[in-house]
This record gives sequence, C-alpha cells and structure tokens, in this order.
Amino acid sequence: MTDSRKLFITSALPYANGALHLGHMLEHTQSDIWARVNRAMGRQVRYLCAEDSHGAPIMLRAEKEGISPEEFVAGTRKEHWEVLQGFNVSYDHYHTTHSPENEFMVQRIYNKLKENGHIDTKVVEQLFDPEKKMFLADRFIKGECPKCHQPDQYGDNCEHCAATYNATEVINPRSTISGATPIIKESLHYFVNLKNFEEMLKDWMNKGALQDQVINKLKEWFDMGLQSWDISRDSPYFGFKIPDTEDKYFYVWLDAPVGYLGCLKYVCEQNGEDIEDWIAPDADTQMVHFVGKDILYFHSLFWPAMLHGSGIKVPDAVYVHGFVTVNGAKMSKSRGTFINASTYLKHFKPDYLRYYYAAKLSDKIVDLDLNLEDFVTKVNSDLVGKIVNIASRCAGFIKKKFDGKLSAELHNPELYQTFIDSTQEISDLFLARKYSKAIKIIMTLADSANQYISDMEPWQAIKDENKQEEVHQVCSTGINLFRVLITWLSPVVTDTAAKASEFLNTEVNNWDAIDSPLLSHEINKFKPLITRIEMASVEAMIEDSKEDLMAIVDEPTYPQITGPLADDPISDEIAFDDFAKIDLRIAKIVDAQHVKGADKLLQLTLDLGGLTKNVFAGIKSAYSPEDLIGKNTVMVANLAPRKMRFGLSEGMVLAAGPGGEDLYILEPNQGAEPGMRVK
Ligand code: 2FM
Ligand code: ZN
Repeated sequence: MTDSRKLFITSALPYANGALHLGHMLEHTQSDIWARVNRAMGRQVRYLCAEDSHGAPIMLRAEKEGISPEEFVAGTRKEHWEVLQGFNVSYDHYHTTHSPENEFMVQRIYNKLKENGHIDTKVVEQLFDPEKKMFLADRFIKGECPKCHQPDQYGDNCEHCAATYNATEVINPRSTISGATPIIKESLHYFVNLKNFEEMLKDWMNKGALQDQVINKLKEWFDMGLQSWDISRDSPYFGFKIPDTEDKYFYVWLDAPVGYLGCLKYVCEQNGEDIEDWIAPDADTQMVHFVGKDILYFHSLFWPAMLHGSGIKVPDAVYVHGFVTVNGAKMSKSRGTFINASTYLKHFKPDYLRYYYAAKLSDKIVDLDLNLEDFVTKVNSDLVGKIVNIASRCAGFIKKKFDGKLSAELHNPELYQTFIDSTQEISDLFLARKYSKAIKIIMTLADSANQYISDMEPWQAIKDENKQEEVHQVCSTGINLFRVLITWLSPVVTDTAAKASEFLNTEVNNWDAIDSPLLSHEINKFKPLITRIEMASVEAMIEDSKEDLMAIVDEPTYPQITGPLADDPISDEIAFDDFAKIDLRIAKIVDAQHVKGADKLLQLTLDLGGLTKNVFAGIKSAYSPEDLIGKNTVMVANLAPRKMRFGLSEGMVLAAGPGGEDLYILEPNQGAEPGMRVK
C-alpha cells in the first residue's frame, strides 16, 4: 500500500563558502534516489534544497573579493545548482536562505518561541577584534593553548593536546582576520532554552523514526544535560536581524534549517498551495531530512525543538549517513583524493558514481569508502558487463532479423515472472534506504538473465531456419528482462535509464507498467547506453584535484571548526636525512605562460643559473604570467619529473601566503642568484 501522505524531503543545505565535493554528493545521491523511488510509487513529493547563505565567513569572504555578500552567494548558488543538475539531482527547487520567504519563516518561528517563553537573554563575554570592530567566533582566533602551551591553536580546541577550552582562555590570542590582539567585551545574547523541550524531545525520539545510533546519541546528550542554545550574533554579520533589536542577527545555524521551510513556502506560493497544509502539526504529510552525522545535533535537538515550540509539525524522520572516505582514508587534498564534484564531472558521467554509492549505501550511519579501483571495476562489470550487456546481446537480432519488433509471446514467461515477483522486495528495500541490498538482488537477477541468453545461444540458433521464432522470442525475453532491470535501476542511473527509454521506445520509470511485458512492440536502434571507464580517467581526475589544491586556499569548514588539519592531516613523519635530500634552489622565472585547459596552473620556465626547467605551478590566482617574468622563486630542484596532463613538470616552486591573490614568491635583486642553494 502506498503511503497517502504528501512527502517533503530535504538534504542539508550546502554552505555557500565552498565547492561541493564527492562527500556532499553522497547525501544528494542518497536523497535523490529516495525521492525518485517515492515519486515512482505514486507519492506526491516535494524534494527541496537551498543554498545556506549567511554567516561571518561569507561576509568576510565577499569583503575579500570586493563584492557584496548577496553577489557572492548568488555566484556560489549558481555554481552549486549547476553541479547538482550535472549529477541529475532532481530537486523540485533550489532556493537560498537569504530570501524573503526564509526571513518570514525565521521571524514567525522566533516570534512564536518568544511568545511561548522559550527565549532568554544573557550577557556574555567574548573576544572582540578592536581593529575590525567585530566579535570573533572561535575559528577566527588563534593563540597559545592554555593547557599544553602549543602556539598557533584555534580558539576552541588544541590540535596538539586535543584540549577544548573557551576562547577567552587562549594565551596571547590574535585575530586571524586583522592580526590584532582581541579584547574581552560584553554583549547581550539571545538563547533558546532547550531544557523546556526535554520531554518533548524524548517523546519524539521514541516515536520510531530515528536510527538506533541516533537514539543512542540523543540519550547521551540528555544524560549530559541540555544546554541553552545561543542564537544571536552581533553586527557586523550577514544574516537576518532579530526583531526589536538594533544590531543583533540570527546565528546562521538558526536560519539554515528554517531554510527548508523557506524553500517550501516559495514553492507553495508558486503552485498556489497553502504551506499550512504541509507544516501544521496535524498536516497529513511526512517531513524527512537527510543529513550527515556531523550535523545530527542541530537536526535532532534544536530543529525539532524550534518547530514544536513555534507550533509547526516536527520532522517525521531524520536520516543520517556517514562520511565518504577515498581509498580507505579521509579525503586528502595533498593526495588528490579531495575531489570536487565539478572536477568529477569533467571526467565522468554522473551515473557511475550514483551507481557506486547506491551499491554501497545502507540505512546505517557508516562511512562509505570510495575505492577508486573498485569503482572502475564495479561500474564496468555491473552496469556495462551485466545490465547493458543483456540489451546489446539481443537488440541486434531484433533489429536486423525481426524488423525491430518484439515477439508476440515470450520464450520464457516463467523467468519474466520471477523478475516481476521481486519488484515488491526491491521497492521495499529502496524505501527502507537499504540500497546496497536492492542492488544486490538486481545484479543477481541480471546474472540469471545473462545466463539464460548464454544457455539459449541465439547466435547459434539463428543459423537454423527452424529456430527463427525461437530466437525472436528468446531475444524478446532478454529485452523484456532488461526493461525490468533498468526500471528498477532508473532512480539510480538516470542518464542510462533515459537512453534505455529511447531504445525501448517506452518510459522506464513506471514500476507498475513492468507487470506486463512488451509484446509485438517496436523498439529503436540500440546505441551504447553507457561505456566502460578506465583507470586512466581516475588518474587524470586525481591530477586535476591536485591542481585544484594548488589554488585552494581558504576553505573553512562549517561550523565545528577543527582546523585545516582535520581535512588534511600532517603526513607521516620523515627523518632529517629525508628532509636533507630536498635540494632547494633559487630559480629565475624567465618565461611564464597560460596553460590551455587549466584553471589554476601557469607554465614557468625557470633558470637555475645555466640549467633550465619546465614547471607547472598552481599560482594563476595570484599572478598574471607577465608579472612573473624576471622574478625569483625557490624551487625543489631535485624532484623527479612528473607527467601531468599538460606536459612534464620538472620540479615544484614554493610560494607562500594565505592564497587566492596572496601567494608570494621572491622579488628579484635581493642578492639571490639563480642556482644558489637555499640553506
Ligand atoms: O553543514 C553544512 O554544510 C550546513 N550548511 C548544513 C545546513 S543544513 C540545514 F540546517 F540547513
Ligand atoms: Zn594543547
């Protein structure tokens, strides 16, 4: 029985201050497959997402780029939306949290919370940058750890001894924005009193829509005691002003989840619907959020509390997934395994990754390893070798020998029925987010379809005049089995399914239609639906990701800041002898050129005092080629040459700085002669 409730599905809103990477794509793929399966089951679905647009990092980033925050987020929203479309993620709408609809919903929720006595105020002491004239979030403070005295630690935790502390305890703190020494200053902050919601949250937790691991986490938090949640930030801040205040703004983490409703409001208005029909406490709807394990706290405590406290229905489910690792390790910028979604799309079609993720996703909160060799093997063997192979083995006979028309009867209706009998189980598994189990069943059935064709040997039978009808029926059975398989896979491999629709001359996203086989039905000429992929393309993608790295500079994470090391841990220790092997030399840049097809690289010709080297360097964001000619740089002169997509790179130049436009190399004429060893 199909659930009759209207279904509202969201993914976590991508933060506007960074590119989407393959980790993000796990969630968008997981939720997209779920939305598509639900649509195929006939449910009314609103599958929505938006750009998470507010906060100090965005404000500062826009300032650095010399544009308004509005312009900045409009740009990233466009980029993100293009990537999501590139992956065929079927959001009904992609909004922004910086919208009138969201501001309306934020105010509505806040005013209700206030009216219902859930908002408190308290004066708090915080570090303040006297030059920049702004309060500093912990991420913008660095200084000496108060516990182990390690210098250069962030304002909330020490990466050296793992201590956590208040920013006001940091020794010799400095603002990472202006470099100034912060002062302690008082400010009035607004809080949601989370304690008021403890009973309601416990009740919600036991309603059965949460994964066991989520319930356990919630119990831990209840045991630790719920803390009031600070929802205000002082000016200057990019966000929505708190009503009845002069200079207080809602913290981005308040308006981000409300963004789900802001987007829904927008869509309702576009469709002449009343949002209350979706969000009233007794609305006959199902509200489901897909999120990563890092933002569980916000979605399982603050969010249901805010909704309940303001008279809106609470989520029916929060589905939590793990992180993506690549080749068994955290995605690493230096290894080239921190792969941006747009970089992936330059090398591969979306279906490969969508399939790989689906084949490994379960309903559990476990990390998913994208093993790149396995990725190549699996998509080639499953999609090309098993699924599409069935169609390609049969299509030629139908087209050439039987005028492109399927037979009036199947040769093996029992086998067809076995397939159809699995539809229920497969759809149940997809709906329960047990995608890997569904895929396993589909692939086992694909094996049996291939075995059937091998056993029937239509390529032999066709030589026998008396077996023409048998070949017709066998190949028609094969094509029909393919149709069933691709229909089940249509929420996953969307491009391949679209091409299969074209070939089969019928839509393949209707799960009811496959109950009846296509008989006496004309099909179109078979064209390859998906092609094999090669490890060489993976290697090129990794190279490109390293190239991205050379230009990536500040990509702060959000909002649990643990520092750049969290993404890119320090490599294995090396012995002094290893270090001593590095031959650093002064090199004069005698020529610099743009590199065709490279976004971040420049090609440098370096003179080491008689010896010339060709090096590709990721410093295009900071320099025009003509500005470099005549300048000196330091280069690793004895690095083994490396073949890149653009040619041979014979070393590495060293440039330092925060990045973007600020990457510095040496000026000429400072007493450094080309070829001199740097001690
Ligand atoms: O973690 C993040 O990337 C946030 N931008 C997610 C926000 S989800 C929701 F609350 F909007
Ligand atoms: Zn420490």
